[in-house]
Amino acid sequence: MLSGLKLSRVWLLAFCLSFTALTTPSFASQSKCAELLHLPVEFEIYGEDFVLVNGIPVTGQFMHPLKVVMGNLGITELDVQKTYRNKKVLTIGEGVSELLPFFLAQGVAARGLDVWYHNDGFDDNYSGKIMRKYVRKYGAHLIQGDAKKIPLRSGSIDKVFSHLLVNNVEHDEQVAIVEEVIRILKVGGEARLFGFGDDGAELIQDYISAEAGEKVRFTTKRITFEIDFRGHKREKTLSLLIIKKLRARDRRKS
Ligand SMILES: C[S@@+](CC[C@H](N)C(=O)[O-])C[C@H]1O[C@@H](n2cnc3c(N)ncnc32)[C@H](O)[C@@H]1O
Repeated sequence: MLSGLKLSRVWLLAFCLSFTALTTPSFASQSKCAELLHLPVEFEIYGEDFVLVNGIPVTGQFMHPLKVVMGNLGITELDVQKTYRNKKVLTIGEGVSELLPFFLAQGVAARGLDVWYHNDGFDDNYSGKIMRKYVRKYGAHLIQGDAKKIPLRSGSIDKVFSHLLVNNVEHDEQVAIVEEVIRILKVGGEARLFGFGDDGAELIQDYISAEAGEKVRFTTKRITFEIDFRGHKREKTLSLLIIKKLRARDRRKS
């Protein structure tokens, strides 16, 4: 049984709180530093369960099953089967999620982006083992890169997804991510970014209205979902931001 203290720390990680909270001296941790392609990545091992990358826990299939991820992103298997065939898809902050493998299994041209991919400077604890296996299996479809500086051409992607990355970063980083997402989207393309808190959702909407309102149409939706980590269940409510990059003719109408 996990003690109350350990359990609360697990949830602290599960809910992706700030770097400062995660690096208080009471956390027994082991740090490693690596630099690859000018992208600094700091790994920190937290107990038996988690690997933190630059202070953010890497999660995926063991915490957020595909059904929950797709529900939070507001997509269905049927949508994907019917309309994604010739689309270029990017998932950002993908971690070890089942979303990318799902797209690939449907024959969709999908790639996943994360800061730590192709960098094996972490230890083999619970999530470390899963991370290693994930890169071995899906490596050809994984891009190591920063969501704030996505190494892809402007206007090259039809659909962008992100599940539980933006809740881990401050507003200015959320802005940088949203700017990059809008840049890489094709006109007519769509992005679905899940994980904004209430204030975050409001701030990012204000930002988009002021800075990109002409180029895009957007909406947000609050969603309550369940996190189940090793039988310990919790509910959480966050917002989904959906951005559509407008075609010239749609811009004139709006
Ligand atoms: C909480 S996990 C979410 C993983 C997965 N999408 C899920 O829903 O379980 C956040 C992921 O974002 C990645 N990440 C953090 N900062 C990033 C950045 N600037 N660019 C790309 N990925 C980043 C982390 O390495 C981690 O894998």
